[in-house]
Amino acid sequence: MDKRAFIKSYGCQMNVYDATRMADQLRAAGYAIVDEADGADLIVLNTCHIREKAAEKVYSELGRLKGAVGASGAPTMIGVAGCVAQAEGEEIVRRQPRVDFVVGPQAYHRLPALIAGAARGEKPVDTDLDEDKFDHLPAPSRRAIAARGVTAFLTVQEGCDKFCAFCVVPYTRGAEVSRPVAQVLEEARRLVDAGVREVTLLGQNVNAYHGSDGTGGTASLAELVGCLAEVDGLERIRFTTSHPNDMSDDLVAAFADEPKLMPYLHLPVQSGSDRVLKAMNRCHTAAHYVGLIARIRRARPDLALSGDFIVGFPGETEEDFEATMALVAEVGYAAAYSFKYSPRPGTPAAGRPDQVPPEVASVRLRRLQGALASQQRAFNEACVGRRLPVLLEKPGRRAGQLVGRSPYLQPVHVRAEVGAIGATVDVDVATAEGNSLFGAIVERSEAA
Ligand code: 5AD
Ligand code: SF4
Repeated sequence: MDKRAFIKSYGCQMNVYDATRMADQLRAAGYAIVDEADGADLIVLNTCHIREKAAEKVYSELGRLKGAVGASGAPTMIGVAGCVAQAEGEEIVRRQPRVDFVVGPQAYHRLPALIAGAARGEKPVDTDLDEDKFDHLPAPSRRAIAARGVTAFLTVQEGCDKFCAFCVVPYTRGAEVSRPVAQVLEEARRLVDAGVREVTLLGQNVNAYHGSDGTGGTASLAELVGCLAEVDGLERIRFTTSHPNDMSDDLVAAFADEPKLMPYLHLPVQSGSDRVLKAMNRCHTAAHYVGLIARIRRARPDLALSGDFIVGFPGETEEDFEATMALVAEVGYAAAYSFKYSPRPGTPAAGRPDQVPPEVASVRLRRLQGALASQQRAFNEACVGRRLPVLLEKPGRRAGQLVGRSPYLQPVHVRAEVGAIGATVDVDVATAEGNSLFGAIVERSEAA
């Protein structure tokens, strides 16, 4: 019988993607990938270091897994991957001796060798920041891709050179590296061939993409999107996450010109106060961001905008926070993620003496989240009565229902047969509840 491996991912979408690449390697090494820890012979925790809570979760999970045994009754091999692995390395094995190996996000192409070392009791730790991981990873099988569904993540860029004062990413993911256009296209074609209809291009700083174009030059993200749009069978393209300063004119124009590029943009601003933005080393002002959004909306008036916010950054005053609330009111978000500032070891802001008391940050976070939630509700309600193309992705909660996504990334629930998964259908949106839309598929003759 195959040995069983379970990979648990925390954090961002790139970790979800990395988990698929690790799973492909494990399958090639004879493991069956299972979706629960119970009875697994190998457990890999694919961790996130972005905020303190995320990192601490890993240690409590490791504590819970201490007594884990595989199908044969032998102790489960436990590996720690991802950004905590990168940031803490050897320290993880010291703190939790039950861990058998540690592998950083730029080293997981050596997973089979690390597992072999761990089996010999060597407790290997590999946190090298290699730049050529993708040259060494096995391509996923058609079956493995198909099992993951009709939408897929595709990492095109990794790392970050921006060094925002709060952020661990430049340390955990290393310097910015872009994959060559040809490599991305090959992976996209393979995905589409196995039934994928939508890809989300991933990068910590995805709009800084500058991959080799194969003729000695580099291609921008807009050019990459243009190449991908020519892949037959690929219907939708998205990308995340972007920095405002890398939102080039050609990328803004792509929102007007490229029908396969979906009208959804995740563009974090973090704060609406210029003083705080400066202290965060964001290298732009609130006005610059607002002006940029206006330009993008001129290119694509129905754009659904999403963002990230941090409240309670060191030195943030009531007035600074009000500037964030004002920016939110002015811009209008369809979705957003907001966080209390969490001091991260090794980042410049962590050592500042003017930390904001957690109670103050909590009050601000509640206010901000209230405003963002009502904007999201308003955006969803404005879709009621509209006819939207929906890519049907998977069975819904009730029998006879499927759930898909609108162009704006909202989940849309409809009555439909399982056989329709992968189809893009027109849906008349009837209601909006929570974060989802509900509607009915328009019959073809009616839609024509
Ligand atoms: N504290 C709180 N939030 C953070 N983020 C990144 N670092 C921190 C931190 N130290 C948030 C930012 C970023 C998102 C991925 O996580 O908003 O855009
Ligand atoms: Fe977490 Fe950032 Fe690493 Fe993603 S890149 S797993 S968000 S620390």
